[in-house]
Amino acid sequence: MAAYDYETHEYDCIVIGAGGSGLRATLGMAEQGLRTACITKVFPTRSHTVAAQGGIAASLGNMGPDHWQWHMYDTVKGSDWLGDTDAMEYLAREAPKAVYELEHYGVPFSRTEEGEIYQRPFGGHTTEFGEGPPVQRTCAAADRTGHAILHTLYGQSLKNNAEFYIEYFATDLIMAEDGTCQGVVAWNLEDGTIHVFNAKMTVLATGGYGRAYFSATSAHTCTGDGGGMVARAGLPLQDMEFVQFHPTGIYGSGCLITEGARGEGGYLTNSEGERFMERYAPTYKDLASRDVVSRCMTMEIRDGRGVGTEGDHIHLHLNHLPPETLAERLPGISESARIFAGVDLTREPIPVIPTVHYNMGGVPTNYWGEALNPTEDEPDRVTPGLMAVGEAGCASVHGANRLGSNSLIDLVVFGRAAAIRAAEVVDPKTSNPPLNQASVDAALDRFDRFRHADGAVPTADLRLEMQKTMQDDAAVFRTDKTLGEGVKKMEAVAAKMADIKVTDRSLVWNSDLMETLELDNLMPNALATIVAAEARKESRGAHAHEDYPDRDDDNWRKHTLASVEDTEVTLSYRPVHLEPLTDESEGGIEMKKIAPKARVY
Ligand code: FUM
Repeated sequence: MAAYDYETHEYDCIVIGAGGSGLRATLGMAEQGLRTACITKVFPTRSHTVAAQGGIAASLGNMGPDHWQWHMYDTVKGSDWLGDTDAMEYLAREAPKAVYELEHYGVPFSRTEEGEIYQRPFGGHTTEFGEGPPVQRTCAAADRTGHAILHTLYGQSLKNNAEFYIEYFATDLIMAEDGTCQGVVAWNLEDGTIHVFNAKMTVLATGGYGRAYFSATSAHTCTGDGGGMVARAGLPLQDMEFVQFHPTGIYGSGCLITEGARGEGGYLTNSEGERFMERYAPTYKDLASRDVVSRCMTMEIRDGRGVGTEGDHIHLHLNHLPPETLAERLPGISESARIFAGVDLTREPIPVIPTVHYNMGGVPTNYWGEALNPTEDEPDRVTPGLMAVGEAGCASVHGANRLGSNSLIDLVVFGRAAAIRAAEVVDPKTSNPPLNQASVDAALDRFDRFRHADGAVPTADLRLEMQKTMQDDAAVFRTDKTLGEGVKKMEAVAAKMADIKVTDRSLVWNSDLMETLELDNLMPNALATIVAAEARKESRGAHAHEDYPDRDDDNWRKHTLASVEDTEVTLSYRPVHLEPLTDESEGGIEMKKIAPKARVY
């Protein structure tokens, strides 16, 4: 057994991760008098939410008529009828409240002439249950909305006496023998000390796993740490086959150009200068939902109408927009286009390509953020003491495809919901039960094994092999052949973790060890993704299967559960929640409005 001294900390709640959902949960828990700590591997305002550009969806109706039922309908349709209806209603209904709360906390939103929060159009957001024109629903702070939210929530959390453990890397969950989560083991990157956190509630707010792919808009820190910890605890991941490609990553660097660019009037062209989206999505054109636009771009490139010397990307035009609009509404991407594409967007188009952006799948939860460990008889069984929010979780509001700007609202609505629920189930007056020492020891043993790993495969080499495999074989379009080969390759890649080589044995700022632990987290996420994708014999949302081009509601309107042990993935399924929270007779959405139908834009 590995011998490490460690310090033990006692809290009511701990939150792992300090992005939008982690900070909103931390703030909400601290505000309600729960003793709360946020443990984060990066400084809070460097969390990946800081990169969120275009905005946060809520039916405020500041720019024209809007209703939460329209937002809910768009989310149901965007999810390609895989989202859980109760969670989607909760999101759409609570969104305005959550945004006004942000405003009152101090988020510096852009303003209309009348002084109201400015809202812009985003893909897939419509009026009149998809029958009317696009709606301006996405509340924006220029094109730096995530940045504004993150700074405000961090300040508010400090004001409410939340405690922060910054640059602490959570390595594993501590699980009691009865399956209750009791906290985490964490490593202080700065001084090398080990810390054990005992808490009544542990919230995973660790973000997505975009870095399982070669080209992603996600930060290099997006390594699916929550999913990795959950998989090692023997708990399942849900709907991992659904990986979102954002239509406009900058060609070459993968850096995001916000969908707000098309919201403000930008459009895509092929090598013939044609605005091809008019052909594929005659009503909403460039503002169709992301999976649709990404597929259309890929088809144009495959049909020989890509731009550039290799004909392998597409042009995004903003050069027709007034320079004042670009300066006021899109200052961030003006800078990104200059730095990462060498383009002055007031004069030239930006070279773009669909780029991995978001994971619809994650830790299964109910709409309070409580993590689920479903059985056939109890598909909504809760894992006591554990929650997951934000991109790490799967509530599931995004189903098979997320609408742009529904991510930031997911972060704050479900971060807030987790805090509300924690105040109901956590009793701050009781002391925490003693920790399961066997679980702490297992975490320390694993840490020590990687610290002294002396195999033949350097971490960076194996990471690249995984990223290339996922990029090639679990792409925008998938086939039985690519997925079948991809599963075999990923199993072989994952098996090499047993032969990993770590060269630095120190404990202080050992980035070699940290990247190895991150890779060990990415691996189960990547495996679950490709195995679940290989099994799903239909096309739905972001899962575009060329051998099964249609959605098959009879057989596949169900959530995938993937349990990962070493290189082995076991799949099972659980039903989609079809019932909304509010009955039609009490003002809820009309059920016939959200009945499955062909998804056209
Ligand atoms: O395009 C964007 O600004 C990204 C927003 C989102 O993913 O929600």
